[in-house]
Amino acid sequence: MCGIMGYVGPRQASPILLQGLRRLEYRGYDSAGIAVSDGGNMTILKAAGKLDQLEAVVAGAEPPGNLGIGHTRWATHGPPTDLNAHPHTDSTDEFAVVHNGIIENFHQLKEELMAAGKTMVSDTDTEVLVHLISDEYEGDLAAAVRKAVARATGAYALVAVTVHEPDTLVAVRMISPLVVGIGDGEMYLASGIPALLDHTRQVVVLEDGEMVTINPGRVVLETLQGDPIDREPAEIDWDVEQAEKGGYPHFMLKEIFEQSQVAADCVLGRLDGSSVTLEDVEWPRGFVEELDKVWITACGTAFHAGLVGKELFEGLLRVPTEAVYAHELRYRDPILEPGSLTVALSQSGETADTLAAARLLQDRGSRLLAVTNVVGSALTHYADDVIYTRAGPEIAVASTKAYLAMLVSQYLLALDLGHRRGALDQARALEVGGALAKLPAQLEEVLKREDGVEDVAQLLAGHDDIYFIGRGLDYAVATEGSLKLKEISYLHSEAMPAGELKHGTLALITEGTPVVVVNTQQHVYDKTTSALQEVKARGAMVIGVAYDDDTEIEAYTDHLLRIPRTLDLLSPVLSIVPLQLLAYHVADHRGLDIDQPRNLAKSVTVE
Ligand code: AGP
Repeated sequence: MCGIMGYVGPRQASPILLQGLRRLEYRGYDSAGIAVSDGGNMTILKAAGKLDQLEAVVAGAEPPGNLGIGHTRWATHGPPTDLNAHPHTDSTDEFAVVHNGIIENFHQLKEELMAAGKTMVSDTDTEVLVHLISDEYEGDLAAAVRKAVARATGAYALVAVTVHEPDTLVAVRMISPLVVGIGDGEMYLASGIPALLDHTRQVVVLEDGEMVTINPGRVVLETLQGDPIDREPAEIDWDVEQAEKGGYPHFMLKEIFEQSQVAADCVLGRLDGSSVTLEDVEWPRGFVEELDKVWITACGTAFHAGLVGKELFEGLLRVPTEAVYAHELRYRDPILEPGSLTVALSQSGETADTLAAARLLQDRGSRLLAVTNVVGSALTHYADDVIYTRAGPEIAVASTKAYLAMLVSQYLLALDLGHRRGALDQARALEVGGALAKLPAQLEEVLKREDGVEDVAQLLAGHDDIYFIGRGLDYAVATEGSLKLKEISYLHSEAMPAGELKHGTLALITEGTPVVVVNTQQHVYDKTTSALQEVKARGAMVIGVAYDDDTEIEAYTDHLLRIPRTLDLLSPVLSIVPLQLLAYHVADHRGLDIDQPRNLAKSVTVE
């Protein structure tokens, strides 16, 4: 997720670009840049770091020109450096491109371009686009962009400019958002409505596979095949804050609803049938075959994702796996054999305990793989391998989409390792790969059921204690459902394996006590159902999370949150969503500060 801003009109472009980027910082903020054209020349200014850094570079050296593009970056390929910041230019500096998203086949395109004598100066996937466009240019920027994007696959939005057409912006949307702002004799382009609201409320929202050519007084909208599209501008009545949240009342809800796209982005270009390509992972010869232990370490929500990972790695690789809280592990004296892999999970990549635990294991000879959402974060500096989760900036303190992206990343990792070790036969690998590919559509389906969750949330909002139970992977999901609820609703909640209830906690279950049960794992289904009967017999109000086609559970539950059927192995990706929504709506009914719960911080960089 990055922010794009474009302007063409009678005014100086650079202040408008900077103002727009400021409004888009919620989309990414690790580096930024602008390209401004005054007709004959194009000036490019970039800076790693927050937008303040770019503003300092621009101050006093404001590039003259009435056309420009700008970008605030959330890195996906290459660390946040000046060189990797956008805009990117071709070797003549006559073309510039800003881009948001992922070019799936960029490795192959890069090799082809380099074989043809091009020099690439950045680590980004974007740079190939600008070279393709300049190669295809024959006096018509729109035609060159059309030909260039025909060679690229992926999910992205881009804007291109050239000194040869000093009043033209050409943009394409392929899944990542892009909006045109209509002014009076001037036009704007942005990846989010907040960037446009200082100038206009008339917007045209591009849809997937559409392209737009913009001049100061004209907007031409077409399909990528060149068929004209007639779309009336829409009038926006949101204020800036509503626009930043995409019209949702809170960032948390927005982020929950992004999860279908997040799952799609996470597998994009990495999963082909059953075969997995992880671009920043390079296993040393023999390592995977000899792997005899996996350590998973993390804190909070990331640790709960690790509990799912433990079941996966043991199930798919048949390698003993231990998931340990980083703040515990760092003060233990772990016994390491040669041939172990540490998987450190951290949305921020900056959590002090996770860094310390990961380094302890690495110092004792383990290979370190980081699963993180932040390119260039501290964890990635130490890691031997990295899987970027590609969830985009997560603003709400309560982690939702980053958790889901960690789950999907671990499925990819398990599939890759399982394949390489020969622990997974082809049929099973294809089954898992196929089910993974279906998750984005199934997540859409779960998200459509928000109203049903809200009804249940109303019933819970007045209770003091809420219990979450499940077995195996369902228990792992229960831990995260419980944490979500307590951190934003301030209700007491506990998660436990369903079989543990009768060893003590059952004493707390009385008439009306809410118990949420996740029951998707067929091999322990009956066992979990027995635990349900035990709580039901004590008068509990039972809320079940179950597959659509599970009718048996109706006899033991008072309310049901349904998910589409998938492989039991993958059910956490779906079953967590109703629990995130449940936590959200309980907190909302209680009128709490959902995005910034009391006493908590987004990233815990102290011990
Ligand atoms: C969960 O909603 C919290 N924000 C918290 O538990 C978080 O997951 C934990 O602090 C770890 O953060 P990290 O993923 O950035 O390392």
